Amino acid sequence: MSKVATKVFRIDVINDCIEALEYSADVIRGGGLVVFPTETVYGLGADATNALAAEKIYMAKGRPSDNPLIIHIAEPSDAEKYTYTNDVYYRLAECFMPGPLTVILRAKDTIPKKTRGGLDTVAVRCPVHPVARKLIEMSGVPIAAPSANISGGPSPTTFSHVFKDMEGRVDVIIDGGESDIGLESTIVKIEDNGDLVLLRPGKITIEDLFLKGFDVTVSSAVVNVLKDGETALSPGMKYKHYAPRATFCLLEGTAESILGYLNERNKRIALFSYDEDVEYYTNNSSARIYPFGSRYRMEEQAHLLFNLLRQADEDGAEEIYAPLPSTEGLGLALYNRMIRASAHKIIRL
Ligand code: TXA
Ligand code: MG
Repeated sequence: MSKVATKVFRIDVINDCIEALEYSADVIRGGGLVVFPTETVYGLGADATNALAAEKIYMAKGRPSDNPLIIHIAEPSDAEKYTYTNDVYYRLAECFMPGPLTVILRAKDTIPKKTRGGLDTVAVRCPVHPVARKLIEMSGVPIAAPSANISGGPSPTTFSHVFKDMEGRVDVIIDGGESDIGLESTIVKIEDNGDLVLLRPGKITIEDLFLKGFDVTVSSAVVNVLKDGETALSPGMKYKHYAPRATFCLLEGTAESILGYLNERNKRIALFSYDEDVEYYTNNSSARIYPFGSRYRMEEQAHLLFNLLRQADEDGAEEIYAPLPSTEGLGLALYNRMIRASAHKIIRL
């Protein structure tokens, strides 16, 4: 891939940065690539209606071209132009949009097959982040955007992550500071009969969906390994994902048993520790300790996870360990990312 000159804009207050957004919207309309902040993780955006622009996304990420892209829209009703919507979609939109929810519907031909990885469905999301919304609105087209990382690695949640991965591969990077949530959107598919299937857990939890009266079944790939020959409902599920360079492993046990295990290992170890255990581990182990938020506040853990995976790699860890999360509430999203980042390596002590 030939290197392109990447322009960087820092946007704190939208009204002061309209020119930067106009420039970026022009790039999108012209078939170029713009990395932009969202409330979940940074996105690598291009005009979703332009097959050549979508192709550039796959190239820049090194992503297999059968793994479809989410299209980002400015208003929930914009989905009409690109998908066959239904009542369930509008009920979901009423409750959760704009916000970190992606909905899969049957696609119209206005979205090229390239953007949707050859599928006859398409994923739509209306982000709540003001920069993302304004950029989509000003572009006048839906923006196809996967997470702005090199395929297979942890999703980017800070400007420095995207700069490392995407500088020289994209026309523009918009620096919007740290991503608020830190994990990608919840993905649900609306089946033709109106049933909902959860394909990827996120900030909007199954419990949130139940509370609003939506019945949802969880796709088995959310927590399990795909069996040989099993096809993934979401193509992304079959690929290696979120993985750091170091070996990543999840631990279930007491702080004492975890220490006992780690202190036997003769490696450069990074240990993600709930804040409540940091002092104990620091005093009793030679592992490098990475505070992972309070045990009781999963939002903090979600916000930190991808950042810490990248940080531990940068610090030269050979092995990274983290506590196995519960699968309740936002825990399911953490669990889903962590078992996949670790390739299902779990040690029960
Ligand atoms: O929060 C997010 O969703 C972020 C930000 C940038 O919006 N985007 C994101 O995109 O996470 P990506 O491409 O990294 O993950 C999208 C996942 C992939 O696993 C893909 O396979 C799945 O969504 N997907 C997209 N379209 C699909 C479809 N039509 N049917 C099933 N799965 C689909
Ligand atoms: Mg991704």
